[in-house]
Amino acid sequence: MYNKESLHILQRALDKLSEGFAELPPFAEEIPPGVEEVLLQAAERMQDNFPYQHPLYAGQMLKPPHEIARLAYMLAMWINPNNHALDGGRASSAMEKEAVAEIALLFGWKEHLGHLTSSGTFANLEALWVASLIHPKKKILASELAHYTHERISHVLGIKFQKLSCTRTGEMDLKKLEAQLKKGNVGTVVVTMGTTGIGSVDPLPEILALQKRYAFRIHLDAA
Ligand SMILES: Cc1ncc(COP(=O)(O)O)c(C=O)c1O
Repeated sequence: MYNKESLHILQRALDKLSEGFAELPPFAEEIPPGVEEVLLQAAERMQDNFPYQHPLYAGQMLKPPHEIARLAYMLAMWINPNNHALDGGRASSAMEKEAVAEIALLFGWKEHLGHLTSSGTFANLEALWVASLIHPKKKILASELAHYTHERISHVLGIKFQKLSCTRTGEMDLKKLEAQLKKGNVGTVVVTMGTTGIGSVDPLPEILALQKRYAFRIHLDAA
């Protein structure tokens, strides 16, 4: 069922990676005892997971990552670079900056500051943390269909959070939003670019127009 041909590509990529370190004294990386046994046990246990990867399986909105993502992840694991600072991952930090610039371009942003995270939850955590620093006393507003992480994270960070009920088609209700904005205590509005439940997209252009009248931050959740 799985296409394992791509593992040859990984092998070639690993050879290419090692060429860059050919001047270092050679060393043999031993496979620790038990690796095969443990991996086979894990594979057997995972047979009891649902087959998200199968084209006929429709019970999950997620599919396994693209082939290139899986291979690139494995390739990176041979170094495990630390992108926290440039001296922890020179090349991979530069690659991260390129990736962020491409994501920003999807939204037409030429000026941007960002980094990659391990998940949507972490991205939301960081965005709401920044929101809480910029507007410590104001609340976070999100539609009732926004991802549940926003409410939980607001509790964790100790910031006020309020849900707005949606329109019949699941978008943020602009009249309800404006009524809240008029009160002057909204610091950040969460705008979801595809809700988890039904895929509805909050009306970003109209919310941007409201932003010109009322000062608030927008947190785009496109996870
Ligand atoms: C809109 C939205 N935001 C955030 C998340 C959380 O992302 P993750 O599961 O990568 O932490 C999800 C996950 O389904 C999501 O659909």
